Amino acid sequence: MHGRTMISIFVTLCTLLMCSASASTVSFANTPSKKTDSASDIYGKHRLISYVVDWEIPETIKWDQMDHIAYAFAEPNESGELKSYTDSNLESLVTEAHKNKVGVSISVGGWSGSKYFSLLVSSDSKIKTLVNNIMSMVEKFDLDGVNLDWEYPNDPNGVSCNIKNPKDTANYLVFVTALRKALDDKYTNVHKLLTLAVGTNPFNDEKQTPIKSLESGWAKAVDSFYLMTYDISGSWMKQAGPNAPLNKAGSEKYDSSVVQSVQAWKSAGIPSKQLVVGIPFYGASLKTSRAINSASGLYVKLASPSAIKGDQYDELSADACSGAKKSYSGSFQWRSIVSAGVMNNKNGWKNYWDKVSTTPYAFLAKEKKFLSFDDPKSLKTKVDYINQQNLGGAMIWSLEMDDSKNSLLASIQKVRK
Ligand SMILES: *[C@@H]1O[C@H](CO)[C@@H](O)[C@H](O)[C@H]1NC(C)=O
Repeated sequence: MHGRTMISIFVTLCTLLMCSASASTVSFANTPSKKTDSASDIYGKHRLISYVVDWEIPETIKWDQMDHIAYAFAEPNESGELKSYTDSNLESLVTEAHKNKVGVSISVGGWSGSKYFSLLVSSDSKIKTLVNNIMSMVEKFDLDGVNLDWEYPNDPNGVSCNIKNPKDTANYLVFVTALRKALDDKYTNVHKLLTLAVGTNPFNDEKQTPIKSLESGWAKAVDSFYLMTYDISGSWMKQAGPNAPLNKAGSEKYDSSVVQSVQAWKSAGIPSKQLVVGIPFYGASLKTSRAINSASGLYVKLASPSAIKGDQYDELSADACSGAKKSYSGSFQWRSIVSAGVMNNKNGWKNYWDKVSTTPYAFLAKEKKFLSFDDPKSLKTKVDYINQQNLGGAMIWSLEMDDSKNSLLASIQKVRK
């Protein structure tokens, strides 16, 4: 889930680019459909992508430690007009990024901004409007790409009042193909990136079941798929579990992992090089009725886990649907994990390691607070997997959540090879 508020209302989280490998700033002319084994933006590689959010742009950005930025969000309204970002913020970010030879894509949609996608791709004329609005934005802000973040086509696991339609996935492909064509027709000398943030499983079919074999148009039009391989366990489950497991054991009561997601998208027909693994710079906390420690292990059954306030940045909020109740997400950002002393077993926190998911977890006994998160060690196991499997790279949600030393960003540099 990508959003300012990430409310876990669901039971299970059900869940491209290609261009010449040239590192120079030209050379994509008239080869929009040419794919090589190396995705890139105009400045070269496209291996380490970070989301930067409009509501908290980091004061200092380690430009030499990333290849591309996805800027969150432009939210389409019912007429397909793109809103919710601050012009001046985006303008200065792009100027600074370009000075440092880092490309910027606008991310369209997000957790709160996916309400009207279904409607906006439901007819040719509506598709044309949305494509035109996105194209205007690319031109106005001198953007290097577009990142579509529809959470999620024909899927009940998004915001409850999102419009849904059995034809969502088919219509989405028509829209994505039209956007690819518009970008290629207008920008004949550069390849603009078209990337998608996606759930752990491939898009749903008309029956809301993940598609086993995707149409070939997806891999053709889209440069990279950013897999949102996090929010896998949480307070909606009856068992403590990892926020972002690399792998899973058959018996564990959670559905997804990085390995499962990569396999699902690969077997649906998307080449490895176009799959980018999502890396959370935050953990997930919840209140438990039982102690969790090294003896209990991570996978403790819980009668009634409840959502609690995560860190200082976690605020009570509700989805923009009538009747939606306010709650905390339990989100606990890495910078807060560091300052709370979790890594040093301070202030009552004790941290442990789970071998199955290759992620750390921690427990604060006095508050019965359980926390699953990622640290430099767990991120190393993810980066090793990405490199071993020749995947497209790593995507971060999101940059401002790192500590002041940028420890997590530094720990994943090997993904850029
Ligand atoms: C969408 O936004 C535009 C621009 O602000 C506005 O003119 C239009 O009325 C909005 N559409 C709806 C349906 O709210």
